[in-house]
Amino acid sequence: MTTLLPVKYPIIQAGMVWVSGAKLAAASANAGILGVIGAGSMKPELLEQHILKAQSLTSHPERLAVNVPLLYEKSKEQLETAIRLGIKIIITSAGSPKTYTKWLKDQGATVIHVTSRPELAKKCEAAGCDAIIAEGFEAGGHNGRDEITTMVLIPQVVDAVKIPVIAAGGIVDGRGIAAAFALGAQGVQLGTRFVATIESSAHENFKQAILSSHPSSTMLMMKKHVPVRLMKNAFFNEVKKLEDQGASEEEIVTLLGHGRAKAGMLDGDMQNGEIEIGQGCSLIHDCPSVAQVVNQLILDYQKTLSLIAPL
Ligand SMILES: Cc1cc2nc3c(=O)[nH]c(=O)nc-3n(C[C@H](O)[C@H](O)[C@H](O)COP(=O)(O)O)c2cc1C
Repeated sequence: MTTLLPVKYPIIQAGMVWVSGAKLAAASANAGILGVIGAGSMKPELLEQHILKAQSLTSHPERLAVNVPLLYEKSKEQLETAIRLGIKIIITSAGSPKTYTKWLKDQGATVIHVTSRPELAKKCEAAGCDAIIAEGFEAGGHNGRDEITTMVLIPQVVDAVKIPVIAAGGIVDGRGIAAAFALGAQGVQLGTRFVATIESSAHENFKQAILSSHPSSTMLMMKKHVPVRLMKNAFFNEVKKLEDQGASEEEIVTLLGHGRAKAGMLDGDMQNGEIEIGQGCSLIHDCPSVAQVVNQLILDYQKTLSLIAPL
């Protein structure tokens, strides 16, 4: 991974709607990992501002990447914006790797696609992706319907393809990184851990909710529409009630159509907002700077290796 990507450590700070803007991505690049701007919540003009700001805040602009979920209608424009501004690493998700990989490769970009199923990993490889992020059921944000956990997914994806596999989902500390590497991953992507950092643009209420969360604070919802792991709150209860009543996709979309994700994650409405977060939130007990998180991850990783007993 440190050959494929210009990073010091094989760690990716995940692209996250409403959370990973210029400040978080630049701090990550400065700390030696890949800093990803989450374009999903940005119009192309806003994405341009974030890229320019991030580039001005880091001495390692080559460690900046952009994540583009392909389910949004402006995804092509977002990709064009990133390429025009010199971003060389693109992470695509929530769509087919066939759609833009060739075009991105022709522009000279390194392309990584996110998948939650081993058979789709093969499609990423066939489409020409340079690496795969295999994201398990524990992850925050949108997820696969099949509930394949990171522990089961990673070895199968590693066995299925020849390109490097980056593990994501439920990894929040050095123990998790060691486990992912033991399963055959060559890198890791962490989302939830980086929400609770000084530089993330998550609202303070959101960060506090992570610190007081417990193992059953989240659940994968909206499996018939767009599966997403949510923190339990009043909005979650509304969604659950509708789903239990067998609501149509249209009714669920209507409920979602009120800017709930922004209200929750950026504006801090912890009751009526949509709060996307991974199961690993209950393992997080502090909200330090990105540099401190990365430092701790490396120390914990090394400590974990020293504690593993030979058989
Ligand atoms: C708040 C939040 C927003 C997310 N938004 C996106 C997104 O816009 N695009 C995407 O590909 N993944 C998104 N994800 C998933 C992350 O990129 C990452 O794969 C995931 O967080 C890894 O699992 P973890 O949360 O257990 O670390 C999001 C995750 C969170 C927590």
